[in-house]
Formats: sequence, C-alpha cells, structure tokens
Amino acid sequence: MEQTQVWKARSLDELVQILHRLFAGDEVNVEEVQALMESYESDPADWASFAQFDQFRYTRNLVDKGNGKFNLMVLCWAEGHGSSIHDHTDSHCFMKILQGNLKETLFEWPGKKGTGEMTKKSERVLRENQCAYINDSIGLHRVENTSHTESAVSLHLYSPPFDCCNTFDQRTGHKHKVKMTFYSQFGERTPYATAVSQENN
Ligand SMILES: [Fe+2]
Repeated sequence: MEQTQVWKARSLDELVQILHRLFAGDEVNVEEVQALMESYESDPADWASFAQFDQFRYTRNLVDKGNGKFNLMVLCWAEGHGSSIHDHTDSHCFMKILQGNLKETLFEWPGKKGTGEMTKKSERVLRENQCAYINDSIGLHRVENTSHTESAVSLHLYSPPFDCCNTFDQRTGHKHKVKMTFYSQFGERTPYATAVSQENN
C-alpha cells in the first residue's frame, strides 16, 4: 500500500506540476489529489486568464491536458448559472472552488426504465478553496451558482479525460447523451463553430 503524501501547492502552476506527478502512473489516490487541490489557496492572479465568462451559460475553459491522463479546467458561473443533472463517464471528478460558492445536489441513478421524479440524496454548499469529489458509483449531481449577486469560478479535474456525458431530466429520469466543448483553451477563445456546446458538466 502506497503511503499518502501531504502536498502543498503554492500556486496554480505548482498545482499543475504536482498533478502531473500524481497522475503519471495508473493508480489515482483520491484522498491525496483532493487534499492537494484543497491545499492551493486560490489566487485570482493565477487563473484570471482562464476565467472567461459567458452571459447566458457557464463556460468550460481548458487549463491543462495532463499528459493525456487528465483534463484540468476552469468553469465560470455567472449569477444563477447551473448545470443539468449529469454523470461522469466512469471518470474521477474533482471540483475545487476558486471564487464564490457553488451548490452541489446529489441524485441517485434512475432505474433502468428511467421513469419518474429522480431521487435527491443530499445537497451542500461548497465554499472557496473546498474540493469536492464525485464518480459514477457515488451518483449523479447538479452544480449551481445560486447567488444573484456574485459569480463563481471552480477548478475541475477529470481523469481519464472525456468529452461526452449523460444528462438527466429531473422529472422523468430520462437520459440524453451530450458532447462537451471548451469555451477557451489555454486562455484563447475557441473558434465559434467548434465552441457551441449542448451541455456541460
Ligand atoms: Fe460534474
């Protein structure tokens, strides 16, 4: 059994460097990654160039491709923006708050036929610098910036990377496969034709 090391990331650059080391092998130590991401004290100067907002919906902005092992991205949530209920395509999902608060609501997977109102398991508010974790065995979730006055920014790591997931209708449990795109990559706005997104996670 490998010992869990305690890391401290003093900047976003350093966080990315350490993440490359932690994801170099085939095993992912969830607690170690979560603790590392929490150890980074958010500094807007580090991530401002990735924090590109859209008026109408939240955006996904690629920060690092993790040598093919993970995707690291900044999500920007204007006031009232939220995701649909979605799964995570059998990947690990880490979500750290860089600014503001986000509400996370957990749901159970719908039954095979996916009929009827989906069952809510829990909800919580994630605050600045906190890092949440989810995968498909934990359930599904919805993420929302419920504030009417403050925007929110979060840092997400998905491993292995994926660009399709399922979204779920809360009333019926019916699922719908969607492809996800980046609003910007490495600080550069994605050309419009390829940036039209159906849904995000
Ligand atoms: Fe998610």
